[in-house]
Amino acid sequence: MSEARTYVVLLGVPGAGKGTQAKLLEQSTGLPQVSTGDIFRYNLKNQTELGKLAKSYMDKGDLVPDDVTIRMVEDRLQQPDCARGAIMDGFPRNLVQAAAFDKVTAPFGGVRVVPLINVEDDETIRRITGRRSCRTCGAVYHVTLNPPKVEGICDVDGGELYQRDDDKEETVRNRLFVYYKQTSPLIGYYFAKGVLAEVDGSRSINEVQQALMALMG
Ligand code: AP5
Ligand code: MG
Ligand code: ZN
Repeated sequence: MSEARTYVVLLGVPGAGKGTQAKLLEQSTGLPQVSTGDIFRYNLKNQTELGKLAKSYMDKGDLVPDDVTIRMVEDRLQQPDCARGAIMDGFPRNLVQAAAFDKVTAPFGGVRVVPLINVEDDETIRRITGRRSCRTCGAVYHVTLNPPKVEGICDVDGGELYQRDDDKEETVRNRLFVYYKQTSPLIGYYFAKGVLAEVDGSRSINEVQQALMALMG
């Protein structure tokens, strides 16, 4: 086996706080956030072939096909900044992706821990409807729950804040449906492997961050 790496998989419904917490974990652990949603949005903005393909799925709130997504993640994990592991945000998202991720991570000790960030659906809808995302770095804010210092501007890099296209109520409802149908089986999958750790995500951003840090060991 090669030298062990730290792969963390954040699980949770849309709006649970995966992106928010992944960014904070990146700062405190130095492990990079790998967000498939952010990579797709970056490609969409730059109108790449990948972006054009992903758009039709993302607009509906459906998953982008596995072959494309898995290849994209494999490439990303080979970048030098992932040499110690990664904080996975939004991947794997179904059992096929989880099996592929097991293959990629097996030589490095497999998946270390899978925090499941638990939040009620009502609260996630409230969070998503007020969310604002940075166009350049993907940092997330909320108009009342977590506002930026200056309205409309990212604290981190001064990027423009915008509302995601897939944050419309109808699309959010389908994203939740897709989560329960395709992603929630991963809870049992990782529980059986002994790496699942439930975290109460209804608390403040800071409290959730403390709970996640405690799991990092
Ligand atoms: P993706 O971008 O991954 O979206 P998602 O899973 O639906 O999750 P969100 O980003 O909506 O929520 P989050 O948990 O990150 O919450 P956040 O931290 O922003 O995926 C989008 C699309 O891309 C998919 O629909 C699919 O089409 C495609 N895709 C992506 N990955 C794929 C894959 N692997 N395979 C196939 N397709 C894929 O927080 C939400 C809000 O709440 C923010 O406003 C934040 O400020 C606020 N907040 C966070 N925590 C707290 C707290 N503790 N208290 C108060 N407010 C909080
Ligand atoms: Mg996110
Ligand atoms: Zn930014």
